[in-house]
Amino acid sequence: KNVAILGCPFNGGQARTGVETGPLHVLEHGLEQQLQSLDWTITSCKNLTFVPPAADEDEGRLKRPRFVSESTRKVATEVADIIKSGAFPLTIGGDHSLAIGTVSGVFSQFPDACLVWIDAHADINTPQSTPSGNIHGCPVSFVMGLADPCPPQFAWVQPLLKANKLAYIGLRDVDAGEREILKKHNIAAYSMHHVDKFGIGKVVEMALARVNPDGTSPIHLSLDIDALDPEHAPATGTPVRGGLTLREACYICEALAETGNLVSMDIMECNPVLGVDERSVTSTISAACSLVRCAMGETLL
Ligand code: ARG
Ligand code: MN
Ligand code: MN
Ligand code: MN
Repeated sequence: KNVAILGCPFNGGQARTGVETGPLHVLEHGLEQQLQSLDWTITSCKNLTFVPPAADEDEGRLKRPRFVSESTRKVATEVADIIKSGAFPLTIGGDHSLAIGTVSGVFSQFPDACLVWIDAHADINTPQSTPSGNIHGCPVSFVMGLADPCPPQFAWVQPLLKANKLAYIGLRDVDAGEREILKKHNIAAYSMHHVDKFGIGKVVEMALARVNPDGTSPIHLSLDIDALDPEHAPATGTPVRGGLTLREACYICEALAETGNLVSMDIMECNPVLGVDERSVTSTISAACSLVRCAMGETLL
């Protein structure tokens, strides 16, 4: 069991500073030792550097298109190289626009993979539908090729993700334009309403049945810490109340680990600077570490 940790101190997909310090905090919390005690060999642990271009004019509504494009392109190459080396890429953000890179990297190596996106938000706005212009609200539309036209900066992004290979769990703040996209493409989207109605066990089962019916697809897990209720993970840029409990989120990760098909994971959007006190920072970071451990084989008994 080999894992390569990719720290991505990147904040260009949204407006709040601090999310770039997420990787450092997660590593300082002892994640490497925790993974080693789960019998993982850490083949590399590197922090990428992202330098904003001198000029980065808006592209239509999109903010910082060049910075996000160049940075995520770098991430895509790194993730693909890690997979080629036979290791599991664990990408620590940074904001969720980074998933343009991780998903591109994973699907370039595993074309039949599926994507499980755990988030309060669908992050599937197009350059046309985005209400904020923040690209962390758009990564899924980019990797699906929904941007029409595709902004020139992102011409390198291949539309590798098919609608039937994507499942969401935890949604509760979906923009009107996003809702239309989810409907139009019949995307498997389980909101908090479904978690309440069916329970998390059934929701994960239904989600996997939709995107991985024969159980053979490699799985990439992209986890936004704001999927958790702010009670458990307050230090994040776009918190939304009424979210997953820590156990529900851990359960999702454990269930994905149990499939034996998980090939890559992102843990995104921890912003320690937004914690109102030390305790809120620690609970957010320790929740992130717990989720990673659960996805990487920690079992309770
Ligand atoms: N839907 C909103 C937007 O497009 C919020 C997105 C929040 N995304 C995130 N990765 N936290 O701006
Ligand atoms: Mn989110
Ligand atoms: Mn909103
Ligand atoms: Mn997100």
